[in-house]
Amino acid sequence: MDAKRAKTGVVRATTTAPVNIAVIKYWGKRDTKLLLPINSSLSGTLDQEQLHARTTVAASSSFEADEIWLNGKQEDISNQRLQNVLGAVRALAAKKDPEHPLKDAHIKIASVNNFPTAAGLASSAAGYACLVAALAELFGVQDQELTAIARVGSGSACRSLMGGFVRWEKGTRDDGADSLASQVVPESHWPDMQVLILVVNAGKKGVSSTSGMQSTVKTSALINHRAEVVVPQRMKDIEKAIQDRDFQTFGRITMQDSNQFHATCLDTYPPIFYMNDVSRQIVQILTQYNDAAGEIRAAYTYDAGPNCVIYCLKQHVQEILSLVCHYFPSSESEFVRGRSTTASDYSSTVDAAVREKISGPTTADGVKYILHTGIGPGPKTLTNEDAFLIAEDGSVKQQA
Ligand code: DP6
Repeated sequence: MDAKRAKTGVVRATTTAPVNIAVIKYWGKRDTKLLLPINSSLSGTLDQEQLHARTTVAASSSFEADEIWLNGKQEDISNQRLQNVLGAVRALAAKKDPEHPLKDAHIKIASVNNFPTAAGLASSAAGYACLVAALAELFGVQDQELTAIARVGSGSACRSLMGGFVRWEKGTRDDGADSLASQVVPESHWPDMQVLILVVNAGKKGVSSTSGMQSTVKTSALINHRAEVVVPQRMKDIEKAIQDRDFQTFGRITMQDSNQFHATCLDTYPPIFYMNDVSRQIVQILTQYNDAAGEIRAAYTYDAGPNCVIYCLKQHVQEILSLVCHYFPSSESEFVRGRSTTASDYSSTVDAAVREKISGPTTADGVKYILHTGIGPGPKTLTNEDAFLIAEDGSVKQQA
């Protein structure tokens, strides 16, 4: 077992886990308890340098109950999804070793994100993947079955247990044993692939993905066609595009799948709107940009919120950043964050011939900030004491 055991008898493990952004969207469940999807999906795992969750789990026979702290605040651990994850990891450990030394120990969990939860950046996927990765380290269990355990926390979390591009097979079994995630290619496969996240200024949070997708399953006349006919073909085509590093096919399918997911939201009764006016304005600008360039250079995708995620190649990052800066002027001093931070990274002018063909209104402060990131690896185990959120004596450390 790799987990750290202190003299106090407290065993601990700390891991980080990434956010993932789907290019073929998961939308709709065939089983709402096991979180089994009606269609397969595929995502890129984002670089943890810019976005990650970090979780410490600790076990000791002296702990009196399971407990959890999120971003420094103690939360209710009776949440059904958390209970399902804890139960499933304990069951897996017991299956591998009926006399597992931690089988009766209570567990303390402390987790933080290195990005604001309120920014609407898929924090539950990174959070549950991180919890499962940390528990796996603590219990000394490694298995593809872990992706099924992350899935019962939040469906999309199963895709955050690996780096690169990851598929989640919908599976056909009622017990979900074949609804697992696996890697399509590792992060080293397509180093030119970059990701820009445009955090859009939005009012209050809309419908959660959990409840939104079930309204769609109940009321949309289009969703079955999507799940049964459209997605299976797109999964094959986009996997091939990724293998071949074919950005034109990859970009087209990514945008089409985002469009179709939001079309099924509009087809839900009553309709669900995740994209707002700024989201749509970004689509228009990027569409004109791609048309003017005569090829796809910026592939947008939107999840259950107004933020735009752009997949693009390294050689077009500057151009796209300057376009966004032009159409969404901002007074924010740190408007571009992550891999590109200096003005020279994005103040270059867009090719004049391309520029001329793009028109549209500008919206000041429509975009709060841009995060430049890329594709990265799966969860990492940390062993330096500073990284631990729970001390050797089992107490939760104060957050700075
Ligand atoms: C639009 O995984 O958050 O981001 O399984 O109910 O926790 P639950 O839903 P969740 O849904 C993600 C929906 C999506 C598309 C995707 O990531 O594939």
